[in-house]
Amino acid sequence: MTYSDSALDTVKVITIDGPAGSGKSTVSRMLAHKLGWIYVTTGAIYRTLALMLFEAGTGVQDRGSIERFVAFLSERYRQDPRSGRVFLGDREITHEIRTPFVSEQASLVAQDELVRRRLLPVQRKVVLDCNGAVVDGRDMGTVVFPDAPLKIFLTASPEQRARRRLEELRSQNLEPSFEELVREIHDRDARDANRVVAPMRPADDAVLLDSTELEPAAVVRAVLKLCADRGLIPGLQES
Ligand code: DC
Repeated sequence: MTYSDSALDTVKVITIDGPAGSGKSTVSRMLAHKLGWIYVTTGAIYRTLALMLFEAGTGVQDRGSIERFVAFLSERYRQDPRSGRVFLGDREITHEIRTPFVSEQASLVAQDELVRRRLLPVQRKVVLDCNGAVVDGRDMGTVVFPDAPLKIFLTASPEQRARRRLEELRSQNLEPSFEELVREIHDRDARDANRVVAPMRPADDAVLLDSTELEPAAVVRAVLKLCADRGLIPGLQES
């Protein structure tokens, strides 16, 4: 299946790529809500596969497990487009896939060429049968939805991203050191940006937005204006 398949041609897609902590998930969720479109966070798919491999006591070197788990995931994975809750069959895994350990594992799993190739159709399948979708990830604009009519690459300074991450972890009763978080962010960025397959980078036709000094609502307003300029929505809807 490719994005040019007729089933996908009718779906409007806005891609939001960028590093962890840039605010992509908050912005994407708010934007989808405003537009009445679905919201898909593709990192959750990589996280789910990482969780499955970990629970099976195996790793990406086990090619057979990857094939089996991706086939299972393709059938049973579900993201609630409104709440963002994630399910594998009947089992809710929303919180399990968000632990620091799974974040680390997902970043490693995402380096693997077979994993990326197999998860490509899974990510495209999630947006079928909807009017429009806001999808966030690392290679949405470059690889998964290269024909999307609006592509955003959202960034923020490593320190600002670490502050956001600190808040998120505190809400889970964790207390990591700020310096350690900045270091982890640098390491993860380097890994995501330098991997051989589908490295994280802005698409040539992406609009770059820096959220360091901007509240999510201001980023959403900027993206809505771009949507209106490109004829994706009739005109600006005031909040
Ligand atoms: O966005 P996130 O933090 O939930 O993503 C989890 C990991 O998956 C992260 O290390 C980057 C990777 N990822 C990716 O390589 N490509 C995507 N489209 C989405 C996520």
